[in-house]
Amino acid sequence: MTRIELDRPLFLGQQRESVNATDIEIRPLTSADAGPYRDIRLVALENKPEAFDSTFESEIAQPLTWFCDRLNSSQVFGAFRSTELLGIAGFVRHESDKAAHKGLLWGMYVRPDARKAGVGRRLVEAVIEFARQRVEVIQLAVVADSTRARRLYARLGFLEYGIERNSLKQGGRYYDVVLMAMDLAPHLCAAHASRSERRSVFGDYGSSGGWFGAEGQSHRS
Ligand SMILES: CC(C)(COP(=O)(O)OP(=O)(O)OC[C@H]1O[C@@H](n2cnc3c(N)ncnc32)[C@H](O)[C@@H]1OP(=O)(O)O)[C@@H](O)C(=O)NCCC(=O)NCCS
Repeated sequence: MTRIELDRPLFLGQQRESVNATDIEIRPLTSADAGPYRDIRLVALENKPEAFDSTFESEIAQPLTWFCDRLNSSQVFGAFRSTELLGIAGFVRHESDKAAHKGLLWGMYVRPDARKAGVGRRLVEAVIEFARQRVEVIQLAVVADSTRARRLYARLGFLEYGIERNSLKQGGRYYDVVLMAMDLAPHLCAAHASRSERRSVFGDYGSSGGWFGAEGQSHRS
């Protein structure tokens, strides 16, 4: 199988025009978008492997139906300029009953020549709005070195509540991962926080180790 072109204009010899975020349409991807979704996902995994749990090698080996299934089982938003998919961000709710009030933002990626135009911001805002109707807390995990991504999440209201040292290992190198969360139900958290044994909702969950990994569903990027 041939490797895909990375970080180059979509059409050879043609430079992509500068991106204006107001020209971008954000919409949920469906199984009909599986082809472009697969393409951008593979670019992301090859271009920025440390930002994702998954690997280029594991996903390039998957048939298109695997990407269709993923789009059917998880909500993925796409940023389009006309028909061109410039960026993606996913949301999934925890499966277990006890964790179903929490969701994850995962698989965030914007093509390099579409960055610094607000596309990432619009994708995260779309995920937050979607999550707001469904869960009380939205979480994410971001590689500590990804300062741009951390700034973007912080600007939109995510708080850092922990760090997992050596969370990922690739090519003999370890990567720390920062855990971030946004409370989407302040009234509930206020009630929790008022209990004497819970000084901080974030701290409480963090110390119990309950944000990620419980019941086998970890952050999936
Ligand atoms: C992190 C990432 C998604 C951000 O995407 P993006 O589309 O560039 O995000 P935005 O444009 O909303 O914001 C990025 C920067 O551009 C700036 N910006 C936004 N609109 C702008 C505009 N019109 N003019 C100038 N600057 C602008 C923002 O202020 C921000 O600045 P900062 O980095 O100094 O804080 C992207 O860099 C990426 O895909 N990185 C690799 C994958 C990755 O790390 N994913 C995260 C996994 S958890």
